[in-house]
Amino acid sequence: MMMNFDEFKVQASKILGLDLASYKEKRVERRVESLMRRRSISDFTECLQQLRMNSQFRADFLNHFTINTSEFFRNPLNFTSLEKEILPQLFAEHDRVKIWSAPCSNGCEPYSLAIIIDELQKNPHHYELLGIDIDPDILISAQKGVYNSGALKNVNPNRMKRYFTKIGNDSYAIDDKIKRMVTLKQFDLLKETYARNWDLILCRNLFIYLTQDVKDLITHKFVDALKTGGILFLGNTEFIFEPEKFGLKKIVSSFYRKV
Ligand SMILES: C[S@@+](CC[C@H](N)C(=O)[O-])C[C@H]1O[C@@H](n2cnc3c(N)ncnc32)[C@H](O)[C@@H]1O
Repeated sequence: MMMNFDEFKVQASKILGLDLASYKEKRVERRVESLMRRRSISDFTECLQQLRMNSQFRADFLNHFTINTSEFFRNPLNFTSLEKEILPQLFAEHDRVKIWSAPCSNGCEPYSLAIIIDELQKNPHHYELLGIDIDPDILISAQKGVYNSGALKNVNPNRMKRYFTKIGNDSYAIDDKIKRMVTLKQFDLLKETYARNWDLILCRNLFIYLTQDVKDLITHKFVDALKTGGILFLGNTEFIFEPEKFGLKKIVSSFYRKV
């Protein structure tokens, strides 16, 4: 009998160590089917077989499944709020500001924060900046810190001059000083225990892929991980309905404070 998609998800989750049921069903199905078409894999049984036997296919599957799109200063107006209001206030309130970019993808997000912090002339003892992602390949790319002009479209000319070096036709390397400000780590937000006492957590453009139950669960975990008064910063199209149920208060578009 042909294997159905639900059964495939259960088996594939075990092989991959990634809970596919936490992600929106239609999206998972579309991603799996498009990869199968691309590889001329005819059914879920064969796809599972490949996942079991072929480590390269496993890596390709994860790569295809996790959408890594990112850019520097993504949603620039929100980064202006961060630069002009949120971060200066956090630095005024705390000797050491702990910031977590979760997920950080190719590094554009934590490096954007690092640029702002460098411009605010903060020393390493003033901040901790951690970027995590589930995808090991994207973390290697974050570590390399080389970007094309698409990822840099919101970087102003001053910052381009100060923090990037052109190394190829359309490739720019970020300054080592900025890279050194960020710690990168592989981490699965769905199953691992979160460190606590963060002042600012950025969880942007991941919730759009998750089921409502999983979003709620992760929101609770983020709230637990924040200090009282700490800020949760979401993507532009992501919202928390009834934030008070999570112990949050919306302060300005995309920013929520733990009360
Ligand atoms: C669209 S990117 C968002 C990057 C960045 N926050 C931004 O907004 O530009 C989504 C990232 O979520 C990561 N991801 C997906 N599931 C994850 C999980 N369970 N734990 C940690 N990261 C995950 C993917 O690998 C991908 O790099």
